[in-house]
Amino acid sequence: MPRLHKRHDRSDIFIHWFNAACWLLLLLTGVGLIQNPAIDPFGSGYPEALRNLVGGGGNLLAVHEGIGLAWIAGFVLYLLVNFKGARFFLAEVFAVSPGRDMAWMLKKMVLMTLGPKALKLLGMDPSLPDQGYYNMGQKAFAQASVVGGIVIAATGVVMYLSDRTLGAEASGWISWAVTLHFIAVGLVFAGLLVHVYMAAISPEERPGFKSMFTGSVPDGYAKHHHRLWWNKISAGEE
Ligand code: HEM
Repeated sequence: MPRLHKRHDRSDIFIHWFNAACWLLLLLTGVGLIQNPAIDPFGSGYPEALRNLVGGGGNLLAVHEGIGLAWIAGFVLYLLVNFKGARFFLAEVFAVSPGRDMAWMLKKMVLMTLGPKALKLLGMDPSLPDQGYYNMGQKAFAQASVVGGIVIAATGVVMYLSDRTLGAEASGWISWAVTLHFIAVGLVFAGLLVHVYMAAISPEERPGFKSMFTGSVPDGYAKHHHRLWWNKISAGEE
């Protein structure tokens, strides 16, 4: 039986999959709300079919808003249950060591596209600098999803209120809210494509994927992928 190290507790696993499910539903319903033939990502058939399914555009908006509010409530609940876990996550994700992490990011991109020979040709050592609890790719995506998530939630609340309590004088705010909502979704979605590939498809990350269900990773994986974290846990600091 290989030695295991705890990586996520049950509330972390819950909030991750709850967030992923909300994202999927919010994307599906949000795209259905766009009824503009010039920019419909799936063609005009999709928004129409979805509207018919739920009994009209008003109902589709209500469903989208309901999921969005449940998404925000889920995060508030998570913060109440595991504030310490959220603080640890934010501290890890926003701690960037420019020299080590930027070198990791650049080398990783070359290794995944052109391979180690390209780095050797440039006279560079193809081995990756050691990484901590998260590698720089994971940190970059996590930073985008935290900042993007806050922007999406805040602008969503402004739009939700715009239909109810905000008057005509708030129309400037509302236009900004709509624009920022779209930009933030686009930014996080772009990162999400890479995230899902790296986390769920790439075979070398398979133990990390399993840990999003079991909560722990084998010693060898922690040592090879997250050496600085492994050094700390091996020295008994965490
Ligand atoms: C099918 C969808 C998804 C899969 C398979 C997936 C998988 C994973 C896995 C396996 C990890 C653990 C990495 C580790 O700790 O070693 C992880 C972490 C994480 N996930 Fe996801 N995820 C999905 C959707 C999402 C969505 C929709 C978001 C947010 C928009 C998200 C945000 C994060 C963040 C911020 C982390 C921590 C940092 C990182 O490892 O990148 N995930 N995900």
